[in-house]
Amino acid sequence: MRKLVIANWKMHYGPVKAGAWIRAFRRERLPKDLDIGVAVPHVSLAAARASLGRAGVPLLGAQDVFWANDGAFTGEISPAMLKEFTLSFCLVGHSERRINLGETDEMVSKKAVALQKAGIQPVVCVGETEAQKKKGETLKVVRAQLAACLAGVKGDGASLVIAYEPVWAIGSGRPCSPLDAKNVHEAIREALVKKYGKPGSDIRIIYGGSVDARNVAEYVSTTHVDGVLVGSASLDPRAFGMLCRAALPA
Ligand code: 13P
Repeated sequence: MRKLVIANWKMHYGPVKAGAWIRAFRRERLPKDLDIGVAVPHVSLAAARASLGRAGVPLLGAQDVFWANDGAFTGEISPAMLKEFTLSFCLVGHSERRINLGETDEMVSKKAVALQKAGIQPVVCVGETEAQKKKGETLKVVRAQLAACLAGVKGDGASLVIAYEPVWAIGSGRPCSPLDAKNVHEAIREALVKKYGKPGSDIRIIYGGSVDARNVAEYVSTTHVDGVLVGSASLDPRAFGMLCRAALPA
């Protein structure tokens, strides 16, 4: 399975800086066998697409979507609108949206279903909080999130990615150890195969939470970890290029 590294800029970079980031990143030397994506704010999609042209690297993605294709939903962005930017993927259910905006598993599932209908690959984010981890509930929480978020969602390698992002590891400089990540990813894989049969074994499961150029190789070489989702360490295009090279050393 090809490994996948996604940059999540979060709420950074409007159109001007987004264009500059893409142009700088395209000068980086990148491993051929690695899939690389960048999830940019909605307002910067046009600039990012313009700077990318038709280039396949990085794959362009968004950070959120609404589930209806049009209608009276002030402020929302539909899958059909995203499709105009020829996006490859879109994050859904990031914990920052769950925490700050009250996004629920049910909303995440509706978003993922709508994206698949538009031909955009959802990257469904799951992960436990620090309190849940302390209570030993990690696997229970992640399994329940998966079951609810994947209701009605198709499952095969081309149409779905799962991101395991433990909330306590995000932006904390305290990453989940590769061994702990491996155990959670293994449970996610089991759940995917149970739900989808053999195609479930081709769905990439990526890890996110304080990944940087120093630790990325360890995650990417860990069994059951098919890539990484990177926040802060993706904000500098050259540093992110270095991270991509570190992910798959030649
Ligand atoms: P950091 O890499 O900054 O910990 O963020 C991870 C994340 O939330 C990516 O979606």
